[in-house]
Parts: sequence; structure tokens; C-alpha cells
Amino acid sequence: MEEIQNQEEKLVRILGIETSCDETAAAVIENGSQVLSNVVASQADLHARFGGVFPEVASREHIKIISAVVDQALKDAHVGLDELDAIAVTRGPGLAGSLVVGMNMAKGLALAGGIPLIGINHLEGHLYSAWVPQESTDFQEPHFPVIALIVSGGHSSLILMQDHLTYTQLGRTLDDAAGEAFDKVARLLDLPYPGGPSIQKAAESGNVHAFQFPRAWLDGTWNFSFSGLKTAVLRTLQEQHAEGRPIRVENYAASFQDAVVEVLFKKTIDAAHQYQAEDIVVAGGVSANRALRNAFLEQTDFRVHIPPLKLCTDNAVMIAEAGYYRFLHGFRDELDIDVLPNWGLISA
Ligand code: KG4
Ligand code: ZN
Repeated sequence: MEEIQNQEEKLVRILGIETSCDETAAAVIENGSQVLSNVVASQADLHARFGGVFPEVASREHIKIISAVVDQALKDAHVGLDELDAIAVTRGPGLAGSLVVGMNMAKGLALAGGIPLIGINHLEGHLYSAWVPQESTDFQEPHFPVIALIVSGGHSSLILMQDHLTYTQLGRTLDDAAGEAFDKVARLLDLPYPGGPSIQKAAESGNVHAFQFPRAWLDGTWNFSFSGLKTAVLRTLQEQHAEGRPIRVENYAASFQDAVVEVLFKKTIDAAHQYQAEDIVVAGGVSANRALRNAFLEQTDFRVHIPPLKLCTDNAVMIAEAGYYRFLHGFRDELDIDVLPNWGLISA
């Protein structure tokens, strides 16, 4: 506690570095409240050719641009290495070859500048994107207990947070992650990668009632499952093809999106009631989805925190923000830590 108070009296500047998947990102934040810079170089166009992230290509691309991205983040922030209090870097989960690039960069800087290194769980980063103050004057930090829904390309989890850095995983996906389902269904519909934004766009002109796709409620658990939904889309497409009927992609997109949103929304609200949550946090790439945001912002009385779009998908501000809270709580890592591609979210 004493350490926390001492740290709060001075400016704390954290450099965040994120390379777990196909974004090379670096950011500097001050006192967990001021975003001094936020640089994200996306490889999405490169991977679009393959219809998904190609790990070998991703790590090579990170290597090419990581130095420039970090330099730019420091330059934009007008902060020198000697003014950093810590370097927070994504340690996992993610693609091993990609994680290593960010980790090595962070270690090099930490060693050169004598700066503490803090390894961050990518999912913790997504959660802490909700603690990054927004320009709107009515920004409030989430109040504990928090029920958090993390929905990204690799994860769909319901988490109970009783306090900072304290997590109980209530449920997770048993098969595909929500974002993965968007990406796979987009591929079935011949929509470009990444699938989430493509499906959202197509769905705008579609009819959500065109198809009654299944919802996997998995009653009695907080788990999710999206593979049955994906298979239902595939089967319906095959039937329509076989019958020679015209395929209305927008109707598939709208009906599919509606099924995903309904399950994510209702299960999260149920969990919030059950655990008497004060607030709800929705984070991760899929939280950029407009239909999902609208459901949470319009259909519940819970106070819901959803990061602005640029902090929903992978970025380094969220890693720096999580790093700030770890720094305040006294966490420091050795320079020989390794990346953890399958790292689960664990409490401090
Ligand atoms: O968090 P993120 O950037 O990376 C991971 O940690 O996985 O999430 C990427 C995922 C992709 O599956 C992408 O299709 C999905 O987020 N996504 C969306 C939207 N924007 C990104 N899904 C639905 N609607 C969107 N607007
Ligand atoms: Zn992510």
C-alpha cells in the first residue's frame, strides 16, 4: 500500500509493446490516465491474401517494423528512454514467433536503459482497456465487482473481477472464439479478412430474421460454443446452393451476427445479476461490433464500459495500462522471462 501511495505522487510513464498476433504496436501512457502516444501498424492487408493470420509472415513483419513503431511511440510522446518507469510487454497468449519479437525488443530497451520490465497477459490488457480514461468528461472507472466479457479472435471468456488484477474465469468458449467464428463464417460467405468488420458491414443491409440459426445457451454454465452456429451457416449455404437458390450474403451475415450477439449479451447480463456486479466491461476485438455495442448500451440498466473502437482491437495502450496497475502493485519481471503462448489469465 505504501508503495502504491509513493508511486502515485510522481509521474509514472510506461511504454507498452504488443506483438501477440498481427498488429505491431507501441504506446506511452502517463499515470495510467494520459495516453501520450498510440502507434499501431496492422498487417491485416498482408494476411487478407491468406484469409487469416499466417504466423511465419506475421513474425517476419513484426521484426521489420518493431524498431520504427517503438521509436515513433516515444517520439509522439516526447518521452526519452530515461524518462520511462517501466516497459510493459505482452508475454502471452499469442503466436510464439510474434510474441518473441516484442519481448526481445522490450528486453533490449530494459537492459539498455536500466528500466524495469513487466510481462503482461494479453487478456489482462484487453480488460484494462476499460480503465483508459476517455476524452468524454463523464468517464468513470469500472466499479468492482465487475463482470467482464472478453471477446477476441482467440478468446471468449466471462470473467469476474472482484478487484484490480483479480480474476475468476466463470466461463470460456468450448470451441471457436467469437472473433474466430466471425472470421470463419466470413470465409464461408466469401467476405474479406478480418471477418468481423466484413460481416458487420454486410449485415447492415440484411434481415436478422432471414434464418433462425441456433443459439448454444449451454444452460447451467457460463461457457460459450460457436462451432454449431458456424456449421449451421455452412449447411444452410450448401442447401441453398444445391437448390440453385440465390445466396443473399447480407441475410446470412445479419442472422449470424444476431445469434452471436444475443448469446454474448444475455449470458453476460445473467452473470452480472448472479454475481451482483456493479459494472460490466466488454473488451476485445469483437467489442468493436456495432450490434454488440448497441445491445449493451441500450438494453440493460447496468453501467457498461466498452472501450472506444481503437482500443477494442489489439493495441499497446491497453498493455501499458495493465502494466501501470502491475507497476503500482510492485510487479517487476526478470530479464530472462520467456514468452508464454498459451498463458491463461491468472490473478496477481
Ligand atoms: O482482440 P483482437 O484484435 O485480436 C485478438 O486478440 O484476437 O480481435 C480480433 C478479432 C477478429 O476475429 C476480428 O474479426 C474481430 O476481432 N473483430 C470484429 C469486429 N472488429 C474486429 N468482430 C465483429 N465485429 C467487428 N466490428
Ligand atoms: Zn487481442
